[in-house]
Amino acid sequence: MASNNHVVIIGGGVIGCSIAYHLAGAGVRVTLLERGKLGSGASDVAAGMVASLSEGFTEGEPLKLALESHVLMQEMLPQLQKESGIDVEYLCPGILHLALTKEDEKNLEARLRWQEPLNMGVRWLSAQEMYRMEPALGEGVLGSLFSPQEGHLNSRRLVRAYAQGAARRGATLLQDTEVKGLLYQQRRVSGVRLTSGDLEADWVVMASGAWTGMYRDWLGVDLPVQPVKGQILAARILPSPISTIIWHGITYLVPKADGSIVMGTTREDVGFNARTTIQGIARILSNAIDLVPAVAGAELHRVWGGLRPSSPDDVPILGPVDGCEGILLATGHYRSGILLSAATGKRITDYIVRGEETSLLPFSLSRFTS
Ligand code: FAD
Ligand code: GLY
Repeated sequence: MASNNHVVIIGGGVIGCSIAYHLAGAGVRVTLLERGKLGSGASDVAAGMVASLSEGFTEGEPLKLALESHVLMQEMLPQLQKESGIDVEYLCPGILHLALTKEDEKNLEARLRWQEPLNMGVRWLSAQEMYRMEPALGEGVLGSLFSPQEGHLNSRRLVRAYAQGAARRGATLLQDTEVKGLLYQQRRVSGVRLTSGDLEADWVVMASGAWTGMYRDWLGVDLPVQPVKGQILAARILPSPISTIIWHGITYLVPKADGSIVMGTTREDVGFNARTTIQGIARILSNAIDLVPAVAGAELHRVWGGLRPSSPDDVPILGPVDGCEGILLATGHYRSGILLSAATGKRITDYIVRGEETSLLPFSLSRFTS
């Protein structure tokens, strides 16, 4: 890329902010445009788990991306926190996946078989070992799969850290600035349309989360990204009855650095509606109380809902779009955008700066069209 090229990023969630941070670190002129406030999409809602083995990637390039991002995140955080002055509250207590039934046991044993060779210390805990580790678990749990290298952070703080780090590296980040369309010269993108006028760009990165599918007319191609609502809540009980992340089915309890416990979640296909519901929150609470009965006495602090950007195969869509030169997609991170933000920022930057495309090919939009 030419040294004075200008990259415009659409979307100020964790993905857009990480890309801005990485690009600015490579000396690229970057402007990030967010129509609301930074993090106001799915990113501020997330439980913040950095869980490369537990989010559903089981093989191939998606698993490689998840593992790479996990390592990059751990390597990058000290520098990011120093540059930004923001502590992202990273903790690595591990995850306990509980077996409540024989069926759960079978599924977790199958998971152990492919995770053991990865040398990340994943192991089976008998009921006795598990209750010794987490005495507050409900009765009758048969055992659990323990994954010691998975952890969590404060996703709201992570977004601000990327943003602040990007700004310190020279990026411009504009909030309350909605992109209304793309501008082209012949078949190459030349800028974005804003209510205040046009902004020139040599590259446009679409990191617009669950809304990306709405912009198919800008590109003239289908962008198969759909919102999947997730509800989540935070409560406090001191001292916290748990120290590791507890997970069963779609229910998890994450003991946060500030003493709160974040509990999730739901997966709802209800369009662009992120409202919390009595039914959604009641289900999370009921499941969470079954797993850790002591949380019934916790003080409820906050409930949220957010829209995960999902793709048809639950794998991100990264990289160029055939026929639309200069446009890159960075979306579809579904349940794992916090985890995948580090590798996404790095791989998109490597593509723009050095033309390194092989690492994006497995995530190309063309896997749905060809
Ligand atoms: P978003 O954060 O949604 O950001 C997209 C941004 O684009 C928005 O701010 C939006 O306003 C902006 N935008 C859209 N259109 C325009 C436009 N035209 N102009 C300007 N701006 C625009 N992931 C994990 O890794 N670990 C977890 O523990 C975890 N827990 C989760 C729990 C819940 C309940 C939910 C809902 C999600 C969770 N996730 C988790 C997933 C994670 O939150 C998402 O994958 C991630 O936030 C997606 O980031 P994003 O930047 O792509 O999207
Ligand atoms: N990754 C947790 C969630 O999406 O709820």
